[in-house]
Amino acid sequence: MAVDLLLGLQWGDEGKGKIVDVLTQNYDIIARFQGGPNAGHTLEFDGIKHVLHTIPSGIFHENAVNVVGNGVVIDPVIFKRELDNLQQFNIDIKSRLLISRKAHLILPTHRLLDAASEASKGKAKIGSTLKGIGPTYMDKTGRNGIRVGDIEMKDWKKRYRALADKHEAMIDYYKAEIEYDLKELEAEFFEAVKVLKELTFIDSEEYLFQAQQAGKKILAEGAQGSLLDIDFGTYPYVTSSNTTAAGACTGLGVAPRQIGEVFGIFKAYTTRVGSGPFPTELFDDYGETMGRVGREFGATTGRPRRCGWLDLVALKYAVQVNGVTQLMMMKGDVLSGFDKLMVATAYKYKGETITHLPYNIEPENVEPIYTEMKGWSQDLTGMTKADELPEALNDYIAYLEGELNVPIKIVSVGPDRTQTIHR
Ligand code: IMP
Repeated sequence: MAVDLLLGLQWGDEGKGKIVDVLTQNYDIIARFQGGPNAGHTLEFDGIKHVLHTIPSGIFHENAVNVVGNGVVIDPVIFKRELDNLQQFNIDIKSRLLISRKAHLILPTHRLLDAASEASKGKAKIGSTLKGIGPTYMDKTGRNGIRVGDIEMKDWKKRYRALADKHEAMIDYYKAEIEYDLKELEAEFFEAVKVLKELTFIDSEEYLFQAQQAGKKILAEGAQGSLLDIDFGTYPYVTSSNTTAAGACTGLGVAPRQIGEVFGIFKAYTTRVGSGPFPTELFDDYGETMGRVGREFGATTGRPRRCGWLDLVALKYAVQVNGVTQLMMMKGDVLSGFDKLMVATAYKYKGETITHLPYNIEPENVEPIYTEMKGWSQDLTGMTKADELPEALNDYIAYLEGELNVPIKIVSVGPDRTQTIHR
């Protein structure tokens, strides 16, 4: 049985949480494979909005087991908060939420290091969510990290202390003016570790292998977006994990040949939160309207997201790197009332017209070349069937499908579970 993947194709915040929630009825297992609480996956149903950071978005469905894979980094403090928020829903967490022993832990000093590193960068800062993601993955690849499985061992606190002491020396090195009380942070951390220890730890690669053998349907849930991938994103303005399809193999221990459908999610326009190049960014009324109508604020940090037209050059690149087999277009409803829509189909780059994403997409190097399309005025938010969609939106969809050579199977017309049109 194949493992399907669901990934964001832009700079994150495409609406992965909502679509995983919609698709979970078709799956037995939902597995997160990378990232950590830098993510904010938003789900809405029955009039309630839920934001998940580390816990997979299938948690509200009784039919599904949720796995936090080895590629994920877990902050026990934030994890505990997420669990507290779930308490009112009577979910049997011990059987429905399984955690890989190989997932790495975010320590309080990782968060502090993130803050110190960012402060030291001044204008060149990444715009990190400051959740300690970069420093934790650095310790993972540097072979110094502490994993979930370690907290079951007797001597782990010794290793913790040595690592935290080293981090403190590194924080001093940055000479950043950050204030903190490590004792207090550690008390909170160890309290949260106790809660984490109550949960079910597994060897997730073995669990997922056996599940595949038994014919279970598995959906791997990505976090962030392809343009934030550590290798293929707009480096260094990226996150510290592989957000693209290959990350699901390493982040879960699933063999490449087991991958089935690759669902790629994109917004009908583009957003980015944090620093870094964004060729189609708008600084006019169109961008302001996208931000206001689309309520474009980070689910984790509350920061306003930068908005711009759809960038087909970047989207094609993401479709290609991920091997996307089905597309899902989010937030088409936000564009209702726009008199025109612009789509970047090429870049002017060093005097030439190119249609691939070059090494450097800083604004001084690339200028988007746009195709103008007709807008639509109809409110989409109450629509439930594909044949209700306005002609201009159908034209927009058909144009994108033609350019990307992949069918758009879902058009989302609002944040609620029910506002999802299947084509
Ligand atoms: P970090 O992963 O928190 O270090 O952040 C690195 C970059 O990725 C920053 O520009 C963040 O704004 C961005 N980023 C991280 N996680 C997300 C996400 O879930 N959605 C959108 N942007 C994100």
